[in-house]
Amino acid sequence: MATSRIAVIAGDGIGPEVIEPAIQVVDAVIRKFGGGTLEWNRLPWSSAYYKQTGHIVPSDGWETLAKHDAILLGAVGSPDVPETVTVHGLLLPMRRKFDQYVNLRPAYLYDGVPSPLKNKAPGSIDMIVYRENTEGEYAPVGGRLYEGTAADIAIQTAVFTRRGCERIIRAAFEAARKRPRKKLTSITKSNALPFGMVLWDDVFNSVKKEYPDVQAGSLLVDAAAMDFVRKPEVFDVVVASNLFGDILTDLSAMVTGSVGLASSANINPERTFPSMFEPVHGSAPDIAGKGIANPLAAILSTALMLDHLTMTAAADAIRAAVAAVLKEGKVMSPDLGGTASTTQVAEAVMAAI
Ligand code: NAI
Ligand code: MG
Repeated sequence: MATSRIAVIAGDGIGPEVIEPAIQVVDAVIRKFGGGTLEWNRLPWSSAYYKQTGHIVPSDGWETLAKHDAILLGAVGSPDVPETVTVHGLLLPMRRKFDQYVNLRPAYLYDGVPSPLKNKAPGSIDMIVYRENTEGEYAPVGGRLYEGTAADIAIQTAVFTRRGCERIIRAAFEAARKRPRKKLTSITKSNALPFGMVLWDDVFNSVKKEYPDVQAGSLLVDAAAMDFVRKPEVFDVVVASNLFGDILTDLSAMVTGSVGLASSANINPERTFPSMFEPVHGSAPDIAGKGIANPLAAILSTALMLDHLTMTAAADAIRAAVAAVLKEGKVMSPDLGGTASTTQVAEAVMAAI
């Protein structure tokens, strides 16, 4: 049976608190369901590592990572370390260096989880956002001039390429085609951003012709923000640029209960490089060290990793176990209105497996 090598970057704050239990859950599910073996390679890269060594990723770090089949990441970011070191030194470069151009973020309203929206039935919200992950508004292109003076200038440029738009839009159409509702919504703002977003729309309209079986439509991002709250059940697959996808997925996480449930995958579909799996949330310095972080976002992210490693039975078993724990509602972390600790939630998932 194949062995997959997983690089683990638990990172900062609640990162290690949720990643270790998630690893235990995966080990438990594989003991039961098989499908392959995993070898975990824990890497200490974090804000603490930066403070000791002066860099967050060692000089041969990217080479080391490239030798793995997947990367499991907790979160990076500390109040006492600049975001240029953590987010811009590790997270964003990884997505670009490893060409993880598909950022996949599912949002599902589990039975037993209250939505802040009124009268939403379990399962009624069931969407997946395909966020472009390598260019767009987060391309590090621009400059700063006369910094700190009255003449301070900042230029921040968004980069949209036909290739970049086409590959994420095509990935989203492929995903929509495989889901029962076969529906895809493209998020745009071409009324106000007449270059980048118009290219995005042009590509969407041309790729659409190849998928007559998919019900495809476009929505301006501000209208989408309204509809994610007003009628999130109308969305199936959603495709969005880097910035729009980032913002909308915090919204989709909230309407389905908590950012503590939001999982994500950063996929390199060609498998030229390892893909990376991480909870959507950050290092949550406000609750770090208290042992109350919800580990389910990290645990559900490992299910996405097992999907990618084609260990489908194990992935489905994790999702079923999480659903069972939430439905029973006895072991819930504080973000979901309960009093259970991180460890207790993870143990409940292992028991359900
Ligand atoms: P955050 O996601 O860390 O926290 C936002 C709020 O959600 C906080 O109130 C936190 O307590 C709560 N929360 C987050 N995860 C939770 C969980 N698993 N269980 C229960 N409650 C949870 O976002 P914030 O505060 O904006 O960022 C903190 C740091 O994390 C920053 O340095 C930021 O740059 C970094 N960050 C890193 C990310 C990554 O590594 N992928 C993603 C987002 C932020
Ligand atoms: Mg975000």
